[in-house]
Amino acid sequence: MHFINTPQGNPTPITPVTKSALKSFIASKDHKVQSWLKSIDFSAKAGQLAMIPGDDGKLSRILFGIAPHEYIWGMAELPKTLPAGTYFLDDIAGLLQGKNLDLATIGWGLGNYIFDQYKTHNCQHIELVFPPGVNKLAIENILDAIYLVRDLINTPAKDLGPEELAGNAADLAKNFNGDCSTIVGEELLSQGFPAIYAVGASSHRDPLLIDLTWGDIDAPKLTLIGKGVCFDTGGLNLKTAHNMKLMKKDMGGAAHALGLSMAIMKSNLPVRLRTLIPAVDNAVGPRSLKPLDVIKARNGITIEIGHTDAEGRVILADALALASEEDPDLICDFATLTGAARIALGTDIPALFTNSEEWAKLLLDEGEAASDRLWRLPLWHGYNELLMSPNADITNEPKSPYGGAITASLFLERFIKKQIPWCHVDLMGWNSTQRPGRPEGGEAMGLRTFFNAFENYFTPK
Ligand code: BES
Ligand code: MN
Ligand code: ZN
Repeated sequence: MHFINTPQGNPTPITPVTKSALKSFIASKDHKVQSWLKSIDFSAKAGQLAMIPGDDGKLSRILFGIAPHEYIWGMAELPKTLPAGTYFLDDIAGLLQGKNLDLATIGWGLGNYIFDQYKTHNCQHIELVFPPGVNKLAIENILDAIYLVRDLINTPAKDLGPEELAGNAADLAKNFNGDCSTIVGEELLSQGFPAIYAVGASSHRDPLLIDLTWGDIDAPKLTLIGKGVCFDTGGLNLKTAHNMKLMKKDMGGAAHALGLSMAIMKSNLPVRLRTLIPAVDNAVGPRSLKPLDVIKARNGITIEIGHTDAEGRVILADALALASEEDPDLICDFATLTGAARIALGTDIPALFTNSEEWAKLLLDEGEAASDRLWRLPLWHGYNELLMSPNADITNEPKSPYGGAITASLFLERFIKKQIPWCHVDLMGWNSTQRPGRPEGGEAMGLRTFFNAFENYFTPK
C-alpha cells in the first residue's frame, strides 16, 4: 500500500484545498505563487491539481482540489496521477482532522492498489509518509483486508479453485494461531453436506468446506460465511458468454469473509470467530446437477433444482445449517448471489437483508460514516410462496424473477434458526469501470462498514 514511516530525502508536500478554503490559502502565499495559480486557472475544483514550482524551478508543492466530505475518493485520485516520488500530507487548510484524516489516508491506500501479478513488467508505486495522528495499525489492517479481497477476486479461476481458496484460509489461520480444517470431496457426503457436494461434483476440482476458527472459546460467537463459487458457468443451464465472463468473481463472498476474518484476527477483536466457506466450481460435466434433480440439505430440507445457475443459495444452505447448530451470537453471510440485487441497487451498493433491527441500524449508520454504504431490502415473507415446489420442500428457482434478491434471501432463511441474529449481504464484488480508488476489477464492498460495526459492538465499553 506504500506508506512509509520516515522518509529518506525530501518528500514533496501535498496540500488538499476546498473551493471555500482556497481564498485564504492564496492570501497566505507570496505574489509568485498567487499569480501562478491564477495563470493556470486553479479553482480547487474536485480533482484539479496544481504543481507549484519553487525558486529553484523544481516541484515544491502539489495543491489538489477536494470536495468537502469526499476525502476518501478525493485523496484516492492522487497515487495514479502524481509523478513518481515520496510525498507527505501538508494539510495547511486544516481540512483533514480525526475521522477525515483516517478516510483520506485510506483513500490513498485504495488508490495505490495495483494488481500486477500477471504483468511481465512491474508497475511503479509512489509513497506517502504516514500522516502523524493517523491510526497507522488500524489503517494498514483494513487496507490489507481490502487488498486481500481484491487479489483473491482478481486471480483467474484457473489459479484459484476450491483448493487454493482453502490454502488462503489455512495461511490466515496459521498466521493468527487459529484452526482451519477442510472437508473435501466425497467426505462432504459422509459428514452431512450433500448440497455443497451436489453442486461441486460437476467439476474435476473437488468441492470442499472450509471451517476456520479463532479466538477465545468463551467470547461472543461471530460466524462469517462466504459463497465460494470459484467459477460459475451456470452449470447445465449454461450462462451466455456475456453473463459468464466475470464469473471468476463468484467467490467474492468468500473473499469478503476471509478479508474480514483477517482484519478481525489481526486487530484481536474479542470474539470467537468462525469462518465457513463452501468452495466449489459450478461446472458442466457428467456429474452436473440436472434440472428438477432433488437434493436434501444438511438440515433435512429438500431442494428441487429448478435452475442449475441458482447454485449459490444451494451451497450456502449447508453452511448456514452448520453455522446455526452452535447458536452463535451473529451469523453474517456474504455472496455474489443474484443478478436481481444488481438490477435493484446497481453495482456499487450491496443489498443487506437481516432479521435483526439492531444490526440493520448499526450497519446502515456505520456505512454512512465510512462512505461504504449498504442498502437494506426486506425479507418479505409474503414472497415465501414463490419458493414452493410441487415435488420438494422448496425450489431454488423462484416462480417469478421479480424480487429475485428477496426470494434468494428467503431461501437462505430456511437454513438458519429463526432466533439467531443473521445478516445476508448480496454484493457485486467488482468495479465495472475504472475510478480513483476503485480500479476496474475485484472490489471489497461493505467490508469497512462490517469491520467498524463488529469493532463497535464487540469491544467492551
Ligand atoms: N453468481 C450469480 C449471480 C450474479 C450474476 C451476481 C451477475 C452478480 C452478477 C448466481 O449464481 C446466479 O447465476 N443467479 C441467478 C439465479 C436465478 C437462476 C434464479 C441469477 O441471478 O440470474
Ligand atoms: Mn449461478
Ligand atoms: Zn453464482
